[in-house]
Amino acid sequence: MRLTLKIWRQQTRSASGKFVTYSVDNVNSDMSMLECLDVLNEQLIENGDDPVAFEHDCREGICGSCGFMINGIAHGPLPATTVCQLTMRHFRDGQELVLEPWRAKAFPLIKDLVVDRRSFDRIIAAGGYISVSTGSAPDGNAILVPKESADRAMDAAACIGCGACVAACPNASAALFTGAKIAHLGILPQGKPERDIRAIRMVTQMNAEGFGGCTNIGECIGVCPKEIPLEVIAAMNRDYFRGSWRERDNVVTTLRPFTEWSTGSKLKVDPHSGN
Ligand code: SF4
Ligand code: FES
Repeated sequence: MRLTLKIWRQQTRSASGKFVTYSVDNVNSDMSMLECLDVLNEQLIENGDDPVAFEHDCREGICGSCGFMINGIAHGPLPATTVCQLTMRHFRDGQELVLEPWRAKAFPLIKDLVVDRRSFDRIIAAGGYISVSTGSAPDGNAILVPKESADRAMDAAACIGCGACVAACPNASAALFTGAKIAHLGILPQGKPERDIRAIRMVTQMNAEGFGGCTNIGECIGVCPKEIPLEVIAAMNRDYFRGSWRERDNVVTTLRPFTEWSTGSKLKVDPHSGN
C-alpha cells in the first residue's frame, strides 16, 4: 500500500504549527497505524529530518498512551480500537490520512502529536483511591460483591485514560473519564466510605483543570476504545450532588451558587488547593 500522511508538525507549545504532507510507500496492510509512523520516521531519520513525535507504550490497547485524530476521528474510524491496534487494512491504497493531536485547553501540546495529559493524573490524585488497612491480604469472601456491581465496576475500570473522549467532545469535557474513575470505585463496597468526598474532589479538580462541562452530546462514547458507557456520567453527577449536600458543612464545591444556596456560607477552601 501507499499512503499520503498529512501530519500536524509543531516543535513546541509556543511555536506555530502546520500540516506537512508525507508519502509512505510499502505500507504492509498488517501494520498498525503506529508501525506506519515508525516506517515514516525511519525515512525521515535517513534523510536527516526530524521524526514525528507520537506517544506509545504497550501497543496492545491497554496502557492509554497512544492516541491522535485520524481524519477528524479520535483513534480513527474503527470503533472500540486504539491507534496502536488499528491496522492499515482498514484504509485504501492511495488514501490520504490527516493526523492531528488531541486539541483541548487542558491537554497542552508538547510536540507534533504528543499532548500533556497530566491533568488526568491530577484528577485521579484528587480522589481516585480507596483507604485500606495494611497487613496481610483479606480473605476473598470477606466482603461480598454482588455480580451486577462487579460487572458495572469492571466496565468502568476498563478506562485506559487515553483522552479520546475529551478530544471528541465539542466542549472538551472530561466527564466520561472522570465518571469512569469515580464509578469503578464508588460501585464497589470497598469504595463506599470515601464515595462522597471522592466525587467532590475529582469533579472539583476536573473543573479546575479547564475541561468543559458535559452537555450530553455523547460524542465521547462514539470514540472511546473501551466502550465506557454514558451511565458513568450520570453516576458521577449523582455522587457529586449527593456528596455536596452531605458534606455541605465540611467541604467546598466548584458550584459556588449551589454551595451558597444550600449552606448559606461562602467557600471555605481554595478549590485549587486540593483540600
Ligand atoms: S473514557 Fe474512554 S476515551 Fe475517555 S479516557 Fe477512558 S478509555 Fe479513553
Ligand atoms: S500504546 Fe498502549 S494503548 Fe496504545
